[in-house]
Amino acid sequence: MRVTVIGTGYVGTVTGACLAYLGHRVTCVDTDESKIAKLQRGESPIYEPMLQEILELAAQRGGIDFRTSLDSVAAESDVIFIAVGTPPLPSGEANLAYLEAAARSVGAALDSSRFRVVVNKSTVPVGSANLVETLVREGMAEAPAEERRKVRFGVASNPEFLREGSAIADSLYPDRIVVGSGDDRVLDIMRELYAPLVAQTFEPPPGLPRPASLARVTLLVTSLTGAEMIKYAANAFLTMKIGYANEIANICERVGAEATEVMAGIGLDSRIGARFLNPGVGWGGSCFGKDVNALMHTAREYGYQARLLEASLEVNAAQRNTVIQKLQEKLFILKGRTIGLLGLAFKPDTDDLRDAPAVYIAERLLQMGARVKAYDPVAAQACRAQHPELRIRYCASAAELADDADALVVVTEWNEFRALDLADLAKRMVSPILVDGRNLYSQDAATAAGFDYIGVGRGARRAQQGTIAGVSQNRR
Ligand SMILES: NC(=O)c1ccc[n+]([C@@H]2O[C@H](COP(=O)([O-])OP(=O)(O)OC[C@H]3O[C@@H](n4cnc5c(N)ncnc54)[C@H](O)[C@@H]3O)[C@@H](O)[C@H]2O)c1
Repeated sequence: MRVTVIGTGYVGTVTGACLAYLGHRVTCVDTDESKIAKLQRGESPIYEPMLQEILELAAQRGGIDFRTSLDSVAAESDVIFIAVGTPPLPSGEANLAYLEAAARSVGAALDSSRFRVVVNKSTVPVGSANLVETLVREGMAEAPAEERRKVRFGVASNPEFLREGSAIADSLYPDRIVVGSGDDRVLDIMRELYAPLVAQTFEPPPGLPRPASLARVTLLVTSLTGAEMIKYAANAFLTMKIGYANEIANICERVGAEATEVMAGIGLDSRIGARFLNPGVGWGGSCFGKDVNALMHTAREYGYQARLLEASLEVNAAQRNTVIQKLQEKLFILKGRTIGLLGLAFKPDTDDLRDAPAVYIAERLLQMGARVKAYDPVAAQACRAQHPELRIRYCASAAELADDADALVVVTEWNEFRALDLADLAKRMVSPILVDGRNLYSQDAATAAGFDYIGVGRGARRAQQGTIAGVSQNRR
């Protein structure tokens, strides 16, 4: 099929590359000339594992090209995806300016040669599909009335569930595909488009084998509104699950229990499930906060106060501050201290810093008079460019980060951090304090390496140490 994707961000580039890998002929369009120039040179504009390889394979299979204008390509397309950003406004509601511009540009570029599907892949508030249909029609205003009447198209809502860092696997081997539409012509085209994914008939790309358990992917057909709600409801649920793990971990710290044990114990309950139960410094990224805020805003518009969602945001904001509290507990004074952040990206395997906990933690530490150093295998350059206001000293290695630091904080669980020589790092520091915000290390290993270690929800050891200290004092 002939496909156009508007927006070459994380979602648009991955969607375009994967659809072309499946054999569709894809054109990606973006108004950002520098991104398009990079893609035309065969370079990925974002850091995403396997994306570069899939882009190369996509060019050999269905074919993929990149442009700054929609004009000629929209007319040739069967399916036009809108995958532009929907960032939050100060009120919490989604900013639909990019979506509106994209939908109007689709209207301006359509002709009456065939029926087309305009697919909303951006995360948009309930009712936006109706808005897209109106905007596409408004975009046709320049065309003669007779031509306008002949243009045939339908709108589908097809929310995206990929995760940055594993976006290609998530797109080729998804848990489900959701398509919202009440129009059979639209659904037929969407079923044809996704047929290789649903039946998993494509050859897996080298290095990304198909999960053994995956024989078929469910394509769930819903109403437009249902599809729009599913995306928000799924993200909101995930924030609550992580927030719940963090809240329980905070209680574990106080009562002397080990949160990892507790999470293992509750995660084995098939009604709960083990994933997204890792306590840490809180979630970040471009989607969770924005989507929860947008859903709360929609609820308010309908006179409903979404209390669980409000609590989810509050718990997450507080969790970021636990890092500061732990540093204060260990160092007392933060003014003039040097704190080294291991990781800046909001999660491993991405250079995305949107709503990253590390950015918040660095800001707070700097405000409190601390000196901040940071090492991230990928995101340092992006942080320097996007946050010139942060006086961070960027380091080229974890060893350089540890040199003369008063404490290290693990903020992002990059895989390479697991293999660090902890004893060497501890020796380089003024005081070997490790606040492990991702429970990346075993407490025993970190302590044996010379660190004064504090993780998240690791209350059992602290309780044990307290008891031993108490016993020995009593004996004296
Ligand atoms: N990033 C994720 O992990 C993720 C996951 C699922 C869903 N989503 C949703 O998908 C949407 C896109 O997210 P993203 O992270 O890819 O955004 P992004 O900011 O990385 O990319 C958006 C792109 O759209 C382009 N754009 C804006 N207006 C345009 C126009 N009129 N014509 C052509 N291009 C235009 C921008 O230049 C930019 O390159 C958002 O609604 C987001 O909530 C994102």
